[in-house]
Amino acid sequence: MRVLSGIQPTGNLHLGNYLGAIRNWVKMQDEMPAMAAKADMAKPDKNADSQCFFFLADMHSITVHEERAQRLKNVREMAAALIAAGIAPDRSVLFNQARVPAHAELAWLLNGTARIGWLNRMTQFKDKAGKNREGASVGLFVYPVLQAADVLLYQATHVPVGEDQKQHLELTRDVATKFNTDFGVDLFTLPEPIIPKETARIMSLRDGSAKMSKSDPSDMSRINLTDDDDAISGKVRKAKTDPEPLPDTFEQLAGRPEAANLVGIFAALTGEKADSICARFAGQGFGAFKPALAEVLVESLRPIRQRFEQLKADDAALDAILLKGAARASAAAEPTLRAAYDAMGLMR
Ligand code: TYM
Repeated sequence: MRVLSGIQPTGNLHLGNYLGAIRNWVKMQDEMPAMAAKADMAKPDKNADSQCFFFLADMHSITVHEERAQRLKNVREMAAALIAAGIAPDRSVLFNQARVPAHAELAWLLNGTARIGWLNRMTQFKDKAGKNREGASVGLFVYPVLQAADVLLYQATHVPVGEDQKQHLELTRDVATKFNTDFGVDLFTLPEPIIPKETARIMSLRDGSAKMSKSDPSDMSRINLTDDDDAISGKVRKAKTDPEPLPDTFEQLAGRPEAANLVGIFAALTGEKADSICARFAGQGFGAFKPALAEVLVESLRPIRQRFEQLKADDAALDAILLKGAARASAAAEPTLRAAYDAMGLMR
């Protein structure tokens, strides 16, 4: 069993990232020793010092223009945010992609395997390129090939992500299968996406049909892990809802996406069943529910924010963690990268 996932270090960590992905990374990291003991660890690499790899996808983030100083800051801050959220650099390998050149190398090799038709179907490219496809960068188009390289380099078996990354992981499996078949090898492991059902898609606070996202121009649409208590309460108070009262069961919230999203967030943070939350607030309007949700959010996020504020003040410590992580990641990636060159008949 090997767990791997990544996040783009652009802007803040928001509640969608946290509930959709990062919280699951931490859970898998914490459960790994017990799971590893149970599972047959013969494959992959039994001798690797850790089986959880988490990285900042800074090579992916170049598809959005950023000034040098801002990019340097973003990488360190996202590392601090992940550690604050519970990623332990002594138990998981935490690194930034740019420090491990094997990602870029394998991505280039896989460009020979991935098909233009497959990339043309990627909904993320269509969304991000918008109407101006011809003006989009080549990097944005081949982005999923780099993502396939990220996963396949480490023989990852489990990839915890939100729903929006599912298609990229399906492409990763297609690339792995085609490479193995074309070159007659059993090199790449087919990864399984791990997508938490309840929090697969946390929606915008302003529009229940759009996912919460760091690229939304309105900051009121998302809760950032850096928001202070007042900002969180204000965003919840102004969150879009409807005039209907809460029903007895969660199922009855069908067709009310904003309301369902808020109840879903409450459930995800407290562990209480969505049905029981509905039953408790049944017949009351959102004027009663919102303050309770704000309190849950404030209390859940405050400790993460406080740890983040401490960690982000120490660039040297963060750099040391990332450097060490990169060395461990490079060592873990090397055998697979070498085998890929060899399978293709390329001398390295
Ligand atoms: P990114 O940086 O957009 O998001 C990081 C993680 O957060 C999840 N996520 C959400 N989950 C639920 N609801 C939301 N509103 C929401 N918004 C974001 C994402 O699904 C993701 O799991 N391409 C990836 C980064 C990446 C990667 C990889 C992931 C690069 N290489 C290899 C896994 C494996 C991305 O842009 O995620």
